[in-house]
Amino acid sequence: MNILGIESSCDETSVAIVKDGREIIINLVASQISTHRKFGGVVPEVASRKHIEVIIPLLEKVFQETGMNWKKIEAIAVTIGPGLIGSLLIGLSAAKAMAYVKQKSLVPINHLEGHIKSVFLTHPDLEFPFIALIVSGGHTSLLSVYDHTKFKLLGATRDDAAGEAFDKVARFLHLGYPGGPLIDRLSKKANSSAIKFPRAYMDKDRFDFSFSGLKTSVFNYVRSRDLAFIPGEEISEGIPDIVASFQEAVVDVLIFKALRACKCEGIKQLVLVGGVACNSRLRDKLKIEARKEDIEVYYPAPNLCTDNAAMIAGAGFFQKIAGNYLTGKDIFNLNATNTVSIGK
Ligand code: KG4
Ligand code: ZN
Repeated sequence: MNILGIESSCDETSVAIVKDGREIIINLVASQISTHRKFGGVVPEVASRKHIEVIIPLLEKVFQETGMNWKKIEAIAVTIGPGLIGSLLIGLSAAKAMAYVKQKSLVPINHLEGHIKSVFLTHPDLEFPFIALIVSGGHTSLLSVYDHTKFKLLGATRDDAAGEAFDKVARFLHLGYPGGPLIDRLSKKANSSAIKFPRAYMDKDRFDFSFSGLKTSVFNYVRSRDLAFIPGEEISEGIPDIVASFQEAVVDVLIFKALRACKCEGIKQLVLVGGVACNSRLRDKLKIEARKEDIEVYYPAPNLCTDNAAMIAGAGFFQKIAGNYLTGKDIFNLNATNTVSIGK
């Protein structure tokens, strides 16, 4: 069963075709990073306009490059939220129109569920149950995943998401956007124990996260030492140690909570998804720590950690066979929303 997936929740427009939830036929991603870079972050109105420009050409390209036609497509899966409302609307409007005209089922997908399902594109034989840690620019959520439609939310961030903290620290230091990959790279040759930044909630017996205090500690540290970085000039000496110490604090909290969730739930498999799952320090340290606890860790391929439509098409397959889709005029009742939650 081939599902056409559409993703436009933030600053990536993406269209994909996935077979049986696990096999990528094509996955095209048009990133807007270069557009938003000069603003230091995503500008919602600009993002919506960019989605409008590229979505139809991207759809045409998907059919051209695969040589497939609509007869080969069983259903359309589309992200309905959470995300930027204006951006979501572009993908959803395109999906509704095509589903109605081509008489295909329309499968609404929660973006976070899409991230979780991305793991099956790289590990098709992974079995349930597993603990999923979603670490992206907009979310930090820890869930127990029992099957394709059954999730239990264990905890989530109370303020900034992990990726958001990376982006804000990088922005404060004028390092560029997005901050995660830049901090990851800068930290490689730096001393990650140079500064002891706070690790929030480590002592608390729950699975919520908080990264806003850590971010403020970094800001205060930089201000108090007058380390402000001037754009265009060489990065001053202390900066790599600061960002590496910040990254280490984020990584420590994520690993501690994820492994504790595995222990509390009695589950031996951990899945890490979302943009921050690309972080090399997180991957390396988690591998070591998980092995000590006899826990197996699974990641999607790096290009499937960040936003893409293959994960939406993959999730669409499992929801379609579970009967969660719309047809005919019902398609037009579907709205983009920021209130979709997962596992509650
Ligand atoms: O999943 P994603 O593409 O979009 C959202 O759904 O938010 O994640 C984007 C986030 C950004 O905050 C970016 O800085 C972060 O993922 N990111 C990283 C790395 N690569 C991307 N954070 C830390 N280390 C990385 N290597
Ligand atoms: Zn995402």
